[in-house]
Formats: sequence, structure tokens, C-alpha cells
Amino acid sequence: MSKQYDVAVIGAGAAGLMCAAVAAQRGKTVVLIDHATKLAEKIRISGGGRCNFTNLHAGPANFLSDNPHFCKSALSRYTPQDFLGLLKRHRIGYHEKHKGQLFCDDSAEDIIRMLKAECDAGGVHWRMPCKVEAVGQTADGAFRLDSSTGQISAGKLIIAAGGLSIPKIGATDFAYRIAKQFGLKLIEPRPALVPLTFDDASWQSFVPLAGVALPVDIDTGDKKTKATFREDLLFTHRGLSGPAVLQISSFWQPGTALRLNLVPEVDVAQTLIEGKSTIKKNLNNVLAQWLPARLADGWLDSMGCKADARVADLPDKQLRALGESLNRWAITPNGSEGYRKAEVTRGGVDTRELSQQSMMVNQVPGLHFIGEAIDVTGWLGGYNFQWAWASGMAAGLAV
Ligand code: FDA
Repeated sequence: MSKQYDVAVIGAGAAGLMCAAVAAQRGKTVVLIDHATKLAEKIRISGGGRCNFTNLHAGPANFLSDNPHFCKSALSRYTPQDFLGLLKRHRIGYHEKHKGQLFCDDSAEDIIRMLKAECDAGGVHWRMPCKVEAVGQTADGAFRLDSSTGQISAGKLIIAAGGLSIPKIGATDFAYRIAKQFGLKLIEPRPALVPLTFDDASWQSFVPLAGVALPVDIDTGDKKTKATFREDLLFTHRGLSGPAVLQISSFWQPGTALRLNLVPEVDVAQTLIEGKSTIKKNLNNVLAQWLPARLADGWLDSMGCKADARVADLPDKQLRALGESLNRWAITPNGSEGYRKAEVTRGGVDTRELSQQSMMVNQVPGLHFIGEAIDVTGWLGGYNFQWAWASGMAAGLAV
């Protein structure tokens, strides 16, 4: 038997929970549907279990999209301060960690409990676990869902099914399939905020450095994006990770090189050449002032320099090459760790198909897409949740 609601939300993640709570508290009858058995698993595992739920500095410049102006309206109508107001009402403690990133004092579970309580306060109906098998539309424009728990009909349909990252915890291409069914364009999805890998031969000499971390400057060399980050880099057995690489991975184009400055505060060549008469230390000890000792030794080895050589004994040419290699390291990844490890999916539903006020599809009244499913991708650091809250709020207020 078909059950009739004002609004059906598919996907009870960050965006879907926010949207369902807001719509229900406005008096709409709302059903929230998810195929997972456990609620909001991505919130639970985020931020190392403490959920980096927003960023104090979140603004449109922190998001990637083929249509960069689209996110402005929703972000300005629901800000990090608005979300903090919600936390305050639920007495959830938080702290700032790094560059405006806010984390729960206790656990990401606090955010899930809060959003569930907000949904319950509005009387949201839950269907979980429930698999939506087909979506159709009746002649009067209402949506009819065939699901594993029976037929559901609703005047408005919100797709909040996220992107492709971490299939192990329930990510699917559902949002993209529905977008295609309704004739919407997709910006090609690809893994983002993801570790990058290198072919075995070129990475062989770096394998012993696995676990080494240091602050670097990183960019793609692409003048158009101007993306450059100073963050920590982490060497792994298969390639590079850490916040620096996760950030730049969203901008990186396959086949192109990354540029890294491993000693951002020092012009290494100039310092070594000008210091030849005064620096008494061996080369490895000089480099160890700026780099982790394991990296300093490994780097000298790969450059064919003797670790115990004295700076004064080395020709300027060799010191210049060493300095250049550290200040301008160019390296070309062969790929990424993929959706298995990606924190988010870049691309998704083309935002030119949607209203920036309500997230509604321009050509299909009543159908909305929110959250990560659409082509708005935040940097690392709480921006993606801020987008989930803001886009969920925009749709929740509009339906
Ligand atoms: P989300 O993925 O949260 O929810 C989608 C929901 O749809 C899921 O519950 C899923 O089960 C459901 N679903 C999918 N297909 C379905 C189907 N066919 N039928 C029914 N339901 C279906 N961001 C940030 O800002 N700060 C952080 O600290 C982190 N940390 C982090 C760590 C890790 C390991 C990951 C993988 C990701 C992050 N992120 C993050 C990113 C953040 O988690 C992500 O951007 C948001 O959860 C996106 O919210 P959505 O609601 O759009 O999708």
C-alpha cells in the first residue's frame, strides 16, 4: 500500500538529516530513507571520530565546482555560526584545532544524536534500512518510490545520497542514476581529498621513508586554479598523503606533475653556497635542521651526495642542484588510492541544472539534490560538512 508524504528524503547522511529536520519542523510530513543499517556512518568516522563539522572561515573560495558562484547563496544563508548555534542548544562541546577547523570535544556521535533529535522533534518518519528500487512520477507531478519496504509517494523528493567515496560503508551511484533518469547533466565524478600513488619503479627509493611527515608548500603549477597549500606531507609505502596531498589531490589533473617545496622557509641553495665558509657541519646535519633526519639522509642518498660530506668541500653546482631538488621537487603521480580512500567525490550533478536558492532541478519541479551528490566540493577541513548543512537547510526551507 502506498504511503503519502509531503517530502521524501533519500539518504540519511549529513545533508539528508539536516534537510529532513528543517522541513519536518516547518510542519511538513517527511520520510527519511536510507539503505544502511547504521545511521550516518560517514559522520561517525569523520575527523578521526571527532567530526570536523565546520570551518570558521568557510566561504565560496573554499569550494571547487564547474559553476563556482552556485554555492554562494546557500553558504551565506546558513553559516558556521548558525551551526554553532545548533550545537549550543544541544550543549555539545567543541574546539578549534587548526586553521578554523572545529571538532567535537567528545565524539562525532554527538552530531548524529543532535541531528536525530532535530528530526524526531519534527516527527520525521524513518525507513531504515530501506532500499529504493525505482523512482517514478505520477501525472500530477508527485513522486512514487518502489522500495524494499513498500511503495512511498511524496509531493517533493530530495536526493541526498552522497557521492562514491567509501563504498564499504554504503556509498552508491544512486544520486547520479536518478540525475541521469531525469535527464540532468553530470560533471564527471572522481575521487578527491585522496592519497596519490606513484609507479613502483619511481617510488622504490622513497619506500624506506614511509611514515616521515613534514610541513611543505604544494601546488599543481596550474596558473588557472592558483591552488597552493602549506600543510603536512606524509610519505607512505605507495606514495604521498597527509593534508597537503589530500588538499592538492582535488585540483590535480592526471598526467601532470605536482610541485613541492620541502623547505618552504629557506632558500636551500643560496644558504648552502653563501654559508660555505661558515657552516662547519656535515651536509646531513645541515639538512636535518630543516627536515626529519630520515628524510635528510634518504634525500642525500638519492642525490648521490655523501651524508658526511662537508658543505665547504662541495662544488656550488652540486649544492645548487641539491637546493633546487628540495625547494622545487616536481613529481608526477600515476593515480590515486581511489574511492576506497577518498574522503569525497569531486563532480556530480551539474549545478547549472539546479536553483541556488532551493537546490531544486530547474526542469523538474519538486525534485531537489543536496550535499556531496552535486558538483560542489569543499577543501579538507570541515568545508564539506558545512556544504551538507547549508544545502540541506536551503532545500529544507524550500520544500
Ligand atoms: P553522506 O555520504 O554523508 O550520506 C549519504 C547517505 O545516503 C548515506 O547514509 C548512504 O547510506 C545513503 N545512500 C547512498 N546510496 C543510497 C541508496 N541507493 N539508497 C538509500 N540510501 C543511500 N567532511 C568534513 O567536512 N569534515 C570531516 O571531518 C570529514 N571527514 C571525513 C572522513 C572520511 C573518512 C570520509 C569518507 C569523509 C569525510 N568528510 C568530512 C566528508 C563528509 O563526510 C561528506 O562530504 C558528507 O558526509 C557528505 O554528506 P552527504 O549527506 O551529502 O552524503
